[in-house]
Amino acid sequence: MELKRLEELDRARVNAFLISRWFSLEMLVHGETINLSNVQGKAILESGEIIGMITWRTLDDALEILSLDSLHEGQGIGTILLEQAVAETKKQHLRRLVLTTTNDALRALRFYQRRGFDLLCLRRGVVDKARKKKPQIPLTGENGIPLHYEIDLERIL
Ligand SMILES: CC(C)(COP(=O)(O)OP(=O)(O)OC[C@H]1O[C@@H](n2cnc3c(N)ncnc32)[C@H](O)[C@@H]1OP(=O)(O)O)[C@@H](O)C(=O)NCCC(=O)NCCS
Repeated sequence: MELKRLEELDRARVNAFLISRWFSLEMLVHGETINLSNVQGKAILESGEIIGMITWRTLDDALEILSLDSLHEGQGIGTILLEQAVAETKKQHLRRLVLTTTNDALRALRFYQRRGFDLLCLRRGVVDKARKKKPQIPLTGENGIPLHYEIDLERIL
Protein backbone atom coordinates (compact mmCIF):
# COMPACT_ATOMS: atom_id res chain seq x y z
CA MET A 1 0.00 0.00 0.00
CA GLU A 2 1.21 3.51 -0.66
CA LEU A 3 0.04 6.82 0.74
CA LYS A 4 -0.09 9.85 -1.55
CA ARG A 5 -1.14 13.47 -1.32
CA LEU A 6 -4.05 14.17 -3.67
CA GLU A 7 -1.92 16.75 -5.52
CA GLU A 8 0.40 13.91 -6.54
CA LEU A 9 -2.40 12.02 -8.28
CA ASP A 10 -4.24 12.59 -11.54
CA ARG A 11 -7.10 14.84 -10.45
CA ALA A 12 -9.55 13.12 -12.80
CA ARG A 13 -8.96 9.85 -10.90
CA VAL A 14 -9.35 11.57 -7.54
CA ASN A 15 -12.58 13.19 -8.67
CA ALA A 16 -13.92 9.94 -10.14
CA PHE A 17 -13.33 8.26 -6.76
CA LEU A 18 -15.13 11.08 -4.91
CA ILE A 19 -18.07 10.99 -7.33
CA SER A 20 -18.35 7.20 -6.94
CA ARG A 21 -18.70 7.66 -3.16
CA TRP A 22 -20.60 10.96 -2.87
CA PHE A 23 -22.57 11.11 -6.18
CA SER A 24 -21.01 14.40 -7.33
CA LEU A 25 -18.22 16.86 -6.53
CA GLU A 26 -20.73 19.16 -4.86
CA MET A 27 -21.02 18.27 -1.22
CA LEU A 28 -24.05 19.73 0.56
CA VAL A 29 -23.20 19.95 4.21
CA HIS A 30 -24.41 22.17 7.10
CA GLY A 31 -26.32 24.28 4.59
CA GLU A 32 -23.20 24.94 2.51
CA THR A 33 -22.28 23.70 -0.95
CA ILE A 34 -18.63 22.68 -1.01
CA ASN A 35 -16.87 22.03 -4.28
CA LEU A 36 -14.55 19.03 -3.88
CA SER A 37 -12.87 19.36 -7.27
CA ASN A 38 -9.65 20.87 -5.89
CA VAL A 39 -9.87 19.70 -2.32
CA GLN A 40 -6.77 18.63 -0.38
CA GLY A 41 -6.18 15.32 1.34
CA LYS A 42 -4.52 11.94 1.05
CA ALA A 43 -5.23 8.66 -0.69
CA ILE A 44 -4.14 5.07 -0.11
CA LEU A 45 -3.36 3.05 -3.23
CA GLU A 46 -2.91 -0.67 -3.71
CA SER A 47 -1.47 -1.93 -7.00
CA GLY A 48 -2.01 1.57 -8.37
CA GLU A 49 -5.74 1.63 -7.47
CA ILE A 50 -7.21 4.09 -4.97
CA ILE A 51 -8.66 2.09 -2.10
CA GLY A 52 -9.16 4.87 0.43
CA MET A 53 -9.27 8.65 0.58
CA ILE A 54 -9.59 11.47 3.08
CA THR A 55 -10.24 15.09 2.12
CA TRP A 56 -10.13 18.21 4.26
CA ARG A 57 -10.15 22.00 4.32
CA THR A 58 -8.83 24.58 6.75
CA LEU A 59 -11.27 26.67 8.80
CA ASP A 60 -10.34 29.50 11.21
CA ASP A 61 -9.25 27.33 14.12
CA ALA A 62 -9.87 23.81 12.85
CA LEU A 63 -9.23 21.31 10.12
CA GLU A 64 -12.53 20.03 8.73
CA ILE A 65 -12.64 16.51 7.32
CA LEU A 66 -14.93 16.66 4.29
CA SER A 67 -14.88 12.99 3.33
CA LEU A 68 -13.33 9.74 4.51
CA ASP A 69 -13.82 6.58 2.50
CA SER A 70 -12.38 3.11 2.75
CA LEU A 71 -13.11 0.51 0.09
CA HIS A 72 -11.82 -2.36 2.26
CA GLU A 73 -13.26 -1.83 5.69
CA GLY A 74 -11.79 -3.28 8.86
CA GLN A 75 -8.20 -3.45 7.59
CA GLY A 76 -6.87 -0.25 9.12
CA ILE A 77 -7.24 2.01 6.06
CA GLY A 78 -9.61 4.47 7.75
CA THR A 79 -7.31 4.71 10.77
CA ILE A 80 -4.23 5.45 8.65
CA LEU A 81 -6.13 8.16 6.76
CA LEU A 82 -7.50 9.72 9.93
CA GLU A 83 -3.95 9.86 11.32
CA GLN A 84 -3.00 11.88 8.23
CA ALA A 85 -5.67 14.45 9.07
CA VAL A 86 -4.44 14.58 12.68
CA ALA A 87 -0.88 15.19 11.44
CA GLU A 88 -2.10 17.93 9.09
CA THR A 89 -4.03 19.61 11.93
CA LYS A 90 -0.85 19.66 14.03
CA LYS A 91 1.26 20.83 11.09
CA GLN A 92 -1.06 23.80 10.61
CA HIS A 93 -0.98 24.51 14.40
CA LEU A 94 -4.73 24.11 14.63
CA ARG A 95 -6.47 23.07 17.82
CA ARG A 96 -9.45 21.12 16.53
CA LEU A 97 -10.36 18.46 13.99
CA VAL A 98 -14.04 18.58 13.04
CA LEU A 99 -16.41 16.79 10.69
CA THR A 100 -20.06 16.29 9.88
CA THR A 101 -21.64 12.92 9.30
CA THR A 102 -25.21 11.65 9.10
CA ASN A 103 -27.48 9.79 11.52
CA ASP A 104 -27.27 6.52 9.56
CA ALA A 105 -23.45 6.36 9.56
CA LEU A 106 -23.14 3.97 12.49
CA ARG A 107 -19.72 2.65 11.45
CA ALA A 108 -18.38 6.19 11.16
CA LEU A 109 -19.94 7.27 14.47
CA ARG A 110 -18.36 4.29 16.18
CA PHE A 111 -15.05 4.78 14.35
CA TYR A 112 -14.70 8.46 15.26
CA GLN A 113 -15.89 8.18 18.87
CA ARG A 114 -13.41 5.36 19.50
CA ARG A 115 -10.72 7.68 18.17
CA GLY A 116 -11.18 10.65 20.48
CA PHE A 117 -14.06 12.50 18.78
CA ASP A 118 -16.94 13.95 20.75
CA LEU A 119 -20.48 14.61 19.52
CA LEU A 120 -21.02 18.36 19.16
CA CYS A 121 -24.50 18.85 17.74
CA LEU A 122 -27.35 17.31 15.80
CA ARG A 123 -28.99 19.21 12.92
CA ARG A 124 -32.52 17.99 12.30
CA GLY A 125 -33.95 17.80 8.82
CA VAL A 126 -30.95 19.26 6.97
CA VAL A 127 -30.37 16.13 4.90
CA ASP A 128 -33.99 16.32 3.72
CA LYS A 129 -33.37 19.91 2.62
CA ALA A 130 -30.10 18.95 0.91
CA ARG A 131 -31.90 16.12 -0.92
CA LYS A 132 -34.19 18.67 -2.58
CA LYS A 133 -31.10 20.21 -4.23
CA LYS A 134 -29.26 16.92 -4.72
CA PRO A 135 -31.83 14.16 -5.37
CA GLN A 136 -29.10 11.48 -5.52
CA ILE A 137 -28.91 11.59 -1.70
CA PRO A 138 -30.71 8.37 -0.76
CA LEU A 139 -33.76 8.22 1.49
CA THR A 140 -32.18 5.49 3.56
CA GLY A 141 -28.54 4.98 4.40
CA GLU A 142 -26.53 2.32 6.24
CA ASN A 143 -28.63 -0.58 7.54
CA GLY A 144 -31.76 0.88 5.95
CA ILE A 145 -31.83 3.74 8.47
CA PRO A 146 -33.88 6.76 7.27
CA LEU A 147 -31.43 9.52 6.43
CA HIS A 148 -32.50 12.87 7.95
CA TYR A 149 -29.96 14.46 10.28
CA GLU A 150 -26.41 15.73 10.33
CA ILE A 151 -24.20 15.18 13.34
CA ASP A 152 -21.08 17.27 14.01
CA LEU A 153 -18.11 15.73 15.77
CA GLU A 154 -14.96 17.32 17.16
CA ARG A 155 -11.61 16.16 18.43
CA ILE A 156 -9.50 18.61 20.41
CA LEU A 157 -5.80 18.04 19.85
C1 LIG B 1 -15.77 4.89 8.61
C2 LIG B 1 -14.77 4.23 7.65
C3 LIG B 1 -13.99 5.30 6.92
C4 LIG B 1 -13.81 3.37 8.46
O1 LIG B 1 -12.82 2.85 7.58
P1 LIG B 1 -12.09 1.43 7.83
O2 LIG B 1 -11.07 1.28 6.78
O3 LIG B 1 -13.08 0.37 8.02
O4 LIG B 1 -11.37 1.78 9.20
P2 LIG B 1 -10.38 0.82 10.03
O5 LIG B 1 -10.23 -0.48 9.34
O6 LIG B 1 -9.16 1.58 10.32
O7 LIG B 1 -11.18 0.66 11.36
C5 LIG B 1 -12.44 0.01 11.38
C6 LIG B 1 -12.42 -1.12 12.40
O8 LIG B 1 -11.65 -2.18 11.92
C7 LIG B 1 -10.73 -2.60 12.93
N1 LIG B 1 -9.50 -3.08 12.30
C8 LIG B 1 -8.58 -2.33 11.66
N2 LIG B 1 -7.58 -3.12 11.20
C9 LIG B 1 -7.92 -4.38 11.54
C10 LIG B 1 -7.30 -5.64 11.32
N3 LIG B 1 -6.14 -5.74 10.68
N4 LIG B 1 -7.93 -6.73 11.80
C11 LIG B 1 -9.11 -6.62 12.47
N5 LIG B 1 -9.74 -5.46 12.68
C12 LIG B 1 -9.14 -4.36 12.23
C13 LIG B 1 -10.46 -1.33 13.70
O9 LIG B 1 -10.00 -1.62 15.01
C14 LIG B 1 -11.80 -0.66 13.69
O10 LIG B 1 -12.63 -1.08 14.73
P3 LIG B 1 -13.11 -0.02 15.86
O11 LIG B 1 -13.84 1.09 15.13
O12 LIG B 1 -13.97 -0.84 16.72
O13 LIG B 1 -11.88 0.48 16.51
C15 LIG B 1 -15.49 3.29 6.64
O14 LIG B 1 -16.38 2.47 7.35
C16 LIG B 1 -16.26 4.00 5.52
O15 LIG B 1 -15.70 4.28 4.45
N6 LIG B 1 -17.57 4.29 5.76
C17 LIG B 1 -18.44 4.88 4.71
C18 LIG B 1 -18.18 6.35 4.50
C19 LIG B 1 -18.32 7.15 5.77
O16 LIG B 1 -19.26 7.01 6.54
N7 LIG B 1 -17.32 8.03 6.00
C20 LIG B 1 -17.28 8.88 7.17
C21 LIG B 1 -18.05 10.13 7.00
S1 LIG B 1 -16.94 11.47 6.64
